[in-house]
Amino acid sequence: MSDKKSKAQILVVDDNKITCEVIQRNLASEGYRVFLAHNVEDAAAVLSRQDIDLLITDYKMPRLTGLDMIQYARDHFQDLGIIMLTGYGSIKGAVSALKQGADEYITKPFTDKELMDTVAKCIKRYQERRIDPGMLYSDTWSRFGIIGQSEKMQHLFAAIKKAGENDATVLIQGESGTGKELVARAIHYSHKTRSVYPFIPFNCPGVPPALFESELFGHVKGAFTGATQDSKGFFRAAENGGLFLDEISELPYELQGKLLRVLQEKEYTRVGETRQNKADVRIMAATNQKLEDLVEKGLFRQDLFFRINVITIDIPPLRDRGEDILLLAKHFIVKYAKQLGKNEPKLTQNAIAALENYAWPGNVRELENLIHRNLIMNDTQYMDSAAFPAAMKNTISRENTVTLSLSEMTRKYVREVLAHTGGNKAKALQILKIDRKTLLKKL
Ligand SMILES: Nc1ncnc2c1ncn2[C@@H]1O[C@H](COP(=O)(O)OP(=O)(O)OP(=O)(O)O)[C@@H](O)[C@H]1O
Ligand SMILES: [Mg+2]
Repeated sequence: MSDKKSKAQILVVDDNKITCEVIQRNLASEGYRVFLAHNVEDAAAVLSRQDIDLLITDYKMPRLTGLDMIQYARDHFQDLGIIMLTGYGSIKGAVSALKQGADEYITKPFTDKELMDTVAKCIKRYQERRIDPGMLYSDTWSRFGIIGQSEKMQHLFAAIKKAGENDATVLIQGESGTGKELVARAIHYSHKTRSVYPFIPFNCPGVPPALFESELFGHVKGAFTGATQDSKGFFRAAENGGLFLDEISELPYELQGKLLRVLQEKEYTRVGETRQNKADVRIMAATNQKLEDLVEKGLFRQDLFFRINVITIDIPPLRDRGEDILLLAKHFIVKYAKQLGKNEPKLTQNAIAALENYAWPGNVRELENLIHRNLIMNDTQYMDSAAFPAAMKNTISRENTVTLSLSEMTRKYVREVLAHTGGNKAKALQILKIDRKTLLKKL
């Protein structure tokens, strides 16, 4: 008997005391802890006192019935398994039980095996969904803020570990919001010696081309108009540590050559100076476009690509690692509830289904924003899909987007966010956490 199973707590509600006791004996012999109630009021009291995993209720009871019981339980305790016991041939009873939110029904009379199998199935389903908060942070990588338990994430963790053990240049590829910067930081901070030196992110498209060289390599006072004093530059700032070249695919072609030179010579020159400076810097670069494709199109220098691409880490999109969705959602609920000083709401079954079915074109960032927004806006004990944007409820699902390209899907998502905000671009920008230029580009 597994440890988990022995800990499951079951509440049996039946006005017939003998039925209750027979079921209790059976379940107890399997290691479950069983509570009994003979009417809905008593059952409600048990539910509020004990942490019940599964409710088994009879259908026909005097006054309040099994349906009332289910309704009460679903309204108050949504991550609870529910099994309804119905009379022989009572299809109507079974149907209304399921409609009301029961997970399973068993028709009387039933065998011990039938009962045990249904109970085990129900408990398993709910235990899988109930995530022990301790589990969130049990592995090494969560201390770098990276959450994930899927096989794909296990591969990613292995790659991060490898990269953290040496100084080779790393190229991190993944869609927007998949955690590229998070991974770069994890690589940096797990390095034996570099971790105590700075990790410096450099946003390639954020720097005007004219200033690129001076920003990256530094300049001396008077090197150009506006150079009123010496500047260190990012390479110098990252000395002994790591430089993270974010969105490297956006680097203008002519600047790619300048970067290549540093990577080859491991030396750079400040603007306005001829002296060479040694660069002891670990380079990491990120892109959300496949660099190889850009090389083929002649938009990215092949020689630079080869220089950067010593270790490649591909981060899979969230929709390809469905097992991580709920884990991440709970992680963000814990995180933002704490930050906002609120109680952690529980996810309803509808919310769980919506989260798991959605395609997440904005990946983990989109999920994080959704949870954050919900915690700000709502003070309820439950987080339900009713509060999720319309875009999530039906239009995009993991099933029906497999034929869309990434850019089509992104466009679709951006449009739906705009629809959600009633066309208000400023609000949409806040939700998407992108700037106006990017928004226009995406559209
Ligand atoms: N596995 C993960 N566990 C926990 N948080 C994550 C994970 N992946 C991403 N995040 C969070 O999602 C957000 C986006 O991550 P990050 O900025 O690293 O993505 P990115 O790939 O660099 O995106 P972009 O291409 O848009 O710059 C961050 O708040 C990050 O903390
Ligand atoms: Mg990023």
